[in-house]
Amino acid sequence: MTQATYVVIGNPIAHSKSPQIHAAFAAQFAGHPVVEGFSYERLLAPLDGFAVSVNDFAAAGGRGANVTVPFKEEAFRLASTLSERAQAAGAVNTLQLQSDGSWLGDNTDGAGLVADVLRHTDIRGRRILLLGAGGAARGVILPLLAQPPASLTLANRTLSKAQNLIEHFQRNTPIPLQACEYTAISGQFDLIINATSASLGGERLPIADSVFAPGALAYDMMYGKDETPFLAQVREAGVTQRVDGLGMLVGQAAEAFHVWTGLRPDVAPVLDWMRTQL
Ligand code: ATR
Repeated sequence: MTQATYVVIGNPIAHSKSPQIHAAFAAQFAGHPVVEGFSYERLLAPLDGFAVSVNDFAAAGGRGANVTVPFKEEAFRLASTLSERAQAAGAVNTLQLQSDGSWLGDNTDGAGLVADVLRHTDIRGRRILLLGAGGAARGVILPLLAQPPASLTLANRTLSKAQNLIEHFQRNTPIPLQACEYTAISGQFDLIINATSASLGGERLPIADSVFAPGALAYDMMYGKDETPFLAQVREAGVTQRVDGLGMLVGQAAEAFHVWTGLRPDVAPVLDWMRTQL
């Protein structure tokens, strides 16, 4: 069992870049009493042993955890208290130990995305097209709507999943929301966000080039050393502003660091450094 005060828990976990990111954030506040004793490691939990791993970690002095695949929904169920954004996401990526020994569940993925998008373009008043209706898409809808955009269209291969999400979120917002399939997308969009895993299988999304408004920004939650398949697709469609998801990764980490410490790290130098590590 780890002696670290903070961990990222997943399965697999060896690939996680979170320890380097959080070490860099903590280094920015060297000497600050809040980060005294701050240490962050990877924790591999057995697929059937998430809750046991989390509770053993707390018993060994753990104070907070990031949660990644495949445990975000289980972390949602484990947390005694949930933030509004974790409830909206239906998933928890950040756990914080409370003084009574219970876990507060939060979700910083959407805040990480929004912060990164705002480094490149405005969201307020813009027309958003969100591609995908799985956990990654659901996790970012509430923070996007908070900006607020002019509209949000959710397109997905399986229409019913997009419809269910839109029905859920439309109850609490006057912003016009719409669900459709890729080939039925109508109108033009200023901000197009890929939250699908289609590119993992090397597949392109069947969306028309006409959906991109002049000056549109395309954002891919995926990232890698090379241009992602989605960003290649939109480049060929003429979209000049293209951003991959490395900044969302660093942004969600910065938000988690803030949840735990109350401190806001400077994301830019850490993102620049991470880019050299791909
Ligand atoms: P995550 O938690 O990463 O969002 P997920 O819940 O499995 O993972 O969702 C994956 C998303 O990628 C879904 O929107 C899925 O579409 P369906 O809901 O129709 O399954 C989408 N996706 C995955 N492979 C795809 C493909 N080849 N083409 C289009 N969409 C795809």
